[in-house]
Amino acid sequence: MSIRTLDDLLAEGVSGRRVLVRADLNVPLDKQTGAITDDGRIRAVLPTLGALVEAGAKVVVCSHLGRPKGAPDPQFSLSPVAGRLGELLGAPVHFATDTVGESARSTVADLADGQVALLENLRFNAGETSKDEAERGAFADQLAAFGDAYVDDAFGAVHRKHASVYDVPARLPHVAGRLVLREVEVLSKLTSEPERPYVVVLGGSKVSDKLAVIEALLPTVDRLLIGGGMCFTFLKAQGLEVGTSLLEKDMVETCRNLLERADGKIMLPVDVVVADAFAPDAAHDTVRVDGIPSHRLGLDVGPETVAGFAAALSQAKTIFWNGPMGVFEMAAFAAGTRGIAEAITKADAFSVVGGGDSAAAVRALGLDESSFGHISTGGGASLEYLEGKTLPGIAALEN
Ligand code: 3PG
Ligand code: MG
Repeated sequence: MSIRTLDDLLAEGVSGRRVLVRADLNVPLDKQTGAITDDGRIRAVLPTLGALVEAGAKVVVCSHLGRPKGAPDPQFSLSPVAGRLGELLGAPVHFATDTVGESARSTVADLADGQVALLENLRFNAGETSKDEAERGAFADQLAAFGDAYVDDAFGAVHRKHASVYDVPARLPHVAGRLVLREVEVLSKLTSEPERPYVVVLGGSKVSDKLAVIEALLPTVDRLLIGGGMCFTFLKAQGLEVGTSLLEKDMVETCRNLLERADGKIMLPVDVVVADAFAPDAAHDTVRVDGIPSHRLGLDVGPETVAGFAAALSQAKTIFWNGPMGVFEMAAFAAGTRGIAEAITKADAFSVVGGGDSAAAVRALGLDESSFGHISTGGGASLEYLEGKTLPGIAALEN
């Protein structure tokens, strides 16, 4: 891999130079209060930012947050993130109230050596996500004017062909930050010669989101354990009735086909927790998968399933987990996700947790992050990496 790294840049010396860092500070916010509910992605870029500060660079950080539609939208402001980042760095972060306008220009111009600025949400500008090369390029020109060098540390966004990810590195000397490097190092272990047995656990709501990764993983893995909302489409494909559970009707045939080709590698739940409604206080029971009542919906995998999955995980030498097993945000339906997470921590295996949701689940359930081999900051990005796709942000660093 011919990617230059942060260490290469530091070795050249960055004191007094402006370094533009693309980070993924797309953190979950509380819908009511707007407070940051999980700051994992902010913590994850501290090694890169800290090293640049220490080396005396003028550090200009940019990121997206949420999916605003190419214009300013206060609910997606990065302002609370600037506050949290400053707390974690132990020094104030200078916040620009626009991305490439007057505020950004003066904020960057006023930076002293070793200071950090954060620009407002990249996606407040249509050029960031535009499919039109010229429009993206024009925005990339404006961004690139803020740096003498570019560091990509936004692993969670490397699968996006966006101006700050793909076009800016074509305009500036560019390197991979510590987080991007570590993520790629870890994920490449999974794609090249994983130690066996290699067991993958997939959850989440939709088969359609995971289809490409299932296709790519089937020939590689020894076992594929499927839970979460998407298990019901597989159960339906086995001829079972799933009540009012989440079901992607147009994927049933695809799932049947996958099960046929899987050669017994796919393990599905044998019991599930069914409820009267999608609500934290809904009446619920555990039933066998061949006994799901027609008026109830499955919101978690059951204890026998957890035990079976845990047994498979206890044999593993390499584990990748993406997607919760149930609606873990509701205490009544969290046991499946917790049980699987605990089984992963107990296994004598190299374990990787992929995805914003699964990483947030690990922290929300109060599990010890250090008992996992690696917790990826990228959801879509880690899946697309495992699919073997070319990631625009990585390709841009290779050139
Ligand atoms: C993520 O949360 O997966 C990344 O920050 C990318 O965000 P996006 O899916 O809105 O591009
Ligand atoms: Mg996403």
